[in-house]
Amino acid sequence: MNISQFQKDILAWYQEHQRILPWRIKISNPYHTWVSEIMLQQTTVPTVISYFHRFLERWPTVQELASASLDEVLHLWQGLGYYSRARNLHLCAKKIVEEFQGVFPEEEAQLKKLPGIGDYTAAAIRSIAFNKPSIVVDGNIERIISRLFLIQEQFPASKRTIKKYAAKISSNEFPGDYAQALMDLGSSICTPSNPKCYECPIQNHCKAKDRNPDRYPKREKKAEKPKRYGTLFWIENSKGEIFIEKRPEKGLLGGLMGFPTSEWATHRKKVTAPFKGKWKKSPTLISHTFTHFHLTLEILEGTTNETLPGLWVNQKDFGQHAFPTLMKKAIKIMNHPTSSSAATGA
Ligand code: ADE
Repeated sequence: MNISQFQKDILAWYQEHQRILPWRIKISNPYHTWVSEIMLQQTTVPTVISYFHRFLERWPTVQELASASLDEVLHLWQGLGYYSRARNLHLCAKKIVEEFQGVFPEEEAQLKKLPGIGDYTAAAIRSIAFNKPSIVVDGNIERIISRLFLIQEQFPASKRTIKKYAAKISSNEFPGDYAQALMDLGSSICTPSNPKCYECPIQNHCKAKDRNPDRYPKREKKAEKPKRYGTLFWIENSKGEIFIEKRPEKGLLGGLMGFPTSEWATHRKKVTAPFKGKWKKSPTLISHTFTHFHLTLEILEGTTNETLPGLWVNQKDFGQHAFPTLMKKAIKIMNHPTSSSAATGA
């Protein structure tokens, strides 16, 4: 490949076609780059945009974020999922303020010591915020490189090979633009299926063109996600308030508010309810997919005036709590029992 021509072609395309994104507006603000990159780790660009605006309105600087409470940060994160990102973001802000006098380090090795920052994010911050050479490889870029060089090794085993090729063709002159150009190309042209090769600015450099590019990166057939099952308890008192509790800090959804649930087990188990009494089963099940498993929860409704270790909340005040999407599904079902976001129980 003619590397300098390749870089010219991709950068020229970026000048004309780059997406206007809020974290690209202010030049070189590492705080903005960092917040956006953490949000973008497992969430799509259109979803991140509004969260990014609200986040920066609330905490315009890393110092202000470091002084916020974790509960506030989790609350704003509500609906973005993967809440460990929010916890790490908060911890990282404190470290930046306490150990780095509020100034983000430029070196990848230092960045990677901070909570929530791995290889990809460190390289992205260094190239985008500081315009320093680094090898940025996210999912989009892995796909582009696999196609450019027609890599036959199976993915993800091919990650090392991909990184070697990525290093060979990275730009030292315009690292930030180059990384973001590849990200934009991956999201608009070099898409996972039906890539628009006829519009691609680097088609002349690509070995996969006219060779079924959507077969790359090569993958084994995906194993089915395992399933887990459990019960969610919807508990009301005589004032019509609903019982919620903070989930234990460790584990999925740790530290977030929610309705009590049983253990999420690999098989349906007999459940022990939080108190003795009459329980009514909702006809609708909650169905939710996490990264590593599908979860199906049945809902048992009960009434009590017993004292339980948590909060009784009026439904109109639910908005004040950081409910994850799973719990929001329960609320939707209990208010519209035939809602379509859920599976119907037999
Ligand atoms: N995905 C991850 N980081 C991104 C960025 N800076 N621009 C667009 N998409 C991204």
